[in-house]
Amino acid sequence: MSKLSYNLIFFIVFLCLGLRSSAFTNLNTLSFEESLSPLFGDGNLVRSPDDLSVRLLLDKYTGSGFISSNMYQHGFYSSMIKLPADYTAGVVVAFYTSNGDVFEKTHDELDIEFLGNIKGKPWRFQTNLYGNGSTHRGREERYRLWFDPSKEFHRYSILWTPHKIIFWVDDVPIREVIRSEAMGADYPAKPMSLYATIWDASDWATSGGKYKANYKYAPFVAEFKSFSLDGCSVDPIQEVPTDCSDSVDFLESQDYFSINSRQRAAMRRFRQRFMYYSYCYDTVRYPEAPPECVIVPAEKDRFKDTGRLKFGGTEARGRRRNRRQQRPEIESDPDERRRLLK
Ligand SMILES: *[C@@H]1O[C@H](CO)[C@@H](O)[C@H](O)[C@H]1NC(C)=O
Repeated sequence: MSKLSYNLIFFIVFLCLGLRSSAFTNLNTLSFEESLSPLFGDGNLVRSPDDLSVRLLLDKYTGSGFISSNMYQHGFYSSMIKLPADYTAGVVVAFYTSNGDVFEKTHDELDIEFLGNIKGKPWRFQTNLYGNGSTHRGREERYRLWFDPSKEFHRYSILWTPHKIIFWVDDVPIREVIRSEAMGADYPAKPMSLYATIWDASDWATSGGKYKANYKYAPFVAEFKSFSLDGCSVDPIQEVPTDCSDSVDFLESQDYFSINSRQRAAMRRFRQRFMYYSYCYDTVRYPEAPPECVIVPAEKDRFKDTGRLKFGGTEARGRRRNRRQQRPEIESDPDERRRLLK
């Protein structure tokens, strides 16, 4: 074979590997009109002329939010998101599924919540889940990211099937919850909508409420695009339940349902390096870890009984840094992603 064809084959193999490495290559993406509806703060919800992206603004008058036009009985809820930059203490950007509007006392919920930051510090975020109104049993995990989420768009996804839940950040599965019998109704089971909101949570979001929203920096802008919603669209209060088995088969046949060995290794590395709180290791709060917890010794070793990091972790590192430098603790680092997904 000629050198040229060798090169060509290499190039093609390379290309294929490249494509494989981003988990969801054939996502069906939707416009705002096709999939979403305004929820609140109308004037602060700004759709792009092509309707493929939307900006949610928070100013001193109001936040804003959107909701999926349909509810889904199991589903894949996904969007590319770019967070507000600079000083965002007290600002929460939430990307979550819920049915709280329909089932006030027995609602289900799956959360990704970004928790604001003071300038120069990395955004932190948490995931959580509730089922059938289990609001007094929080299942929070908190993390840093391996990139600056205010610099570029990244894809955030929530997969919910009858047997497992996966939270994805780009092509890294950061949290997997396998349904266990013992979880009972704490595992979300009723149809949920997708929500995205930006709002002022000054009283708790950033360092437990120590840093408040400062409207000198307003408006705070979160951008969303490349919406993807798969699942069984249902009316939650109809008499005859919809048969959703085909749609579950569809969800279970997609790339985002299966964690390959490389992604599993990336998940392990992510959790050992970027997770700074997990309810599973907070034995003060839960003397016995809730039933779905998978205790990983290498993770557990990092935490005290209170669920706090043993060695100061990110908090202490932040404090040691000279404040005047105001340099982000983690720059967007392609090598970091490579190390996670090697
Ligand atoms: C959900 O909670 C309600 C109210 O507490 C209760 O009546 C119902 O049985 C629960 N559902 C399940 C599936 O456990």
